Amino acid sequence: MTKMTSSPILILAPSTDPHAAAVHWALQRNRVDADWWPSMRPEGKAAPSIWIDERGIQMERPPSGNWRSAWHRRPQRPDPSPCQDADRTFLEREWRLYQKNLFDLSPTVTQALWVNAPLAAWQAESKLLQLQEAHNVSLRVPETVVTNHADDVRRFIKKCGRVVFKSFYPHTWHNTAKRELVAVGVVMLDDASVLPDDAVAMSPGIFQRYVDKAFDVRVTVIGDHYFAVKLGKAAGGAFLDWRAYSLEETLQVEPFDLPHELKQKLKALMQRLDLTFGCIDLVVDHDGNAFFLEVNQAGQFLFVEQRLTDLPLLQAMTAMLIAGRRDYRIEDSLPVRFKDYLSSDDFKRNEILIKEQVQTESLYSVEA
Ligand SMILES: Nc1ncnc2c1ncn2[C@@H]1O[C@H](COP(=O)(O)OP(=O)(O)O)[C@@H](O)[C@H]1O
Ligand SMILES: [Mg+2]
Repeated sequence: MTKMTSSPILILAPSTDPHAAAVHWALQRNRVDADWWPSMRPEGKAAPSIWIDERGIQMERPPSGNWRSAWHRRPQRPDPSPCQDADRTFLEREWRLYQKNLFDLSPTVTQALWVNAPLAAWQAESKLLQLQEAHNVSLRVPETVVTNHADDVRRFIKKCGRVVFKSFYPHTWHNTAKRELVAVGVVMLDDASVLPDDAVAMSPGIFQRYVDKAFDVRVTVIGDHYFAVKLGKAAGGAFLDWRAYSLEETLQVEPFDLPHELKQKLKALMQRLDLTFGCIDLVVDHDGNAFFLEVNQAGQFLFVEQRLTDLPLLQAMTAMLIAGRRDYRIEDSLPVRFKDYLSSDDFKRNEILIKEQVQTESLYSVEA
């Protein structure tokens, strides 16, 4: 049996994260060891010590040396348990700030390739910053207004005809009367839409010109490799919002050749945002013009491989983490396939874990 390597990979995600579980499985297939921690307070292990002396700043992490790469997937706030209730507030804050300090310095204090660097990740969560940077690299961006003034929304609708409303963050809630889960989704507005001033004033929202689209495009950027797919209705045309259909046959998923110029602009955007990984949403109109909507710096990507089983997304992510560099080769990992993970025992165990958690803490995710 080959020995597990002494330079492991750090995965920061809760134990219920399906993407982390699949990548962990893929790393094991490659016989590469991984520290899968929910936060920088690893259960049963020592947290890293940070030393500052005349040589500068260094991290010491007994016992197994430096990480070659760190996947900042879904880091959680450190849980200080077990502790006295009276100490909890203090300990929670100390651990949270220890983690923040470490994250702020992460790319300098470790040798690892951070996917993504925490500060860049944090910054890239800003939708407006993304749109501004997209504009700066000459990507087309749909006209947008962020407001809570109904007058401005009406003015915008008059100008554009059709407008979509989007929230800053996905949100779901239980309608107890109807006993159903409801999600804040993309809503189409036009001049017939009722927009009460006080209701609009309740919450600022993102209003954007509806691009009369031929299809959607999702680009999964894994280091220097760009994987693009085209998303449309199997029956022809595009969904207003394709996410609810991502695993259904009514959504057609096909490989898409990114035009050279568009790819160059996306590369420039990723560089400006200092992102190594991201899932980019684009829409393409009937004249072939692509519009940038957003980049999800910690987006979901394995549903794409679930639909297009030959697209090596899991292998690419695994290869990048193993190589510890953006300019990895896909062959740096064995040909691990998501469909093989789905029929593995690891997957079955993870499914059970997720089901148990969902009952208690509602893990529904509509993020894309
Ligand atoms: N301006 C737009 N024109 C046409 N379709 C849009 C527009 N904005 C969003 N959509 C559709 O809604 C989906 C979700 O919007 P997006 O901007 O990606 O925000 P988020 O995923 O954060 O909710 C997109 O993938 C796209 O299918
Ligand atoms: Mg999106």
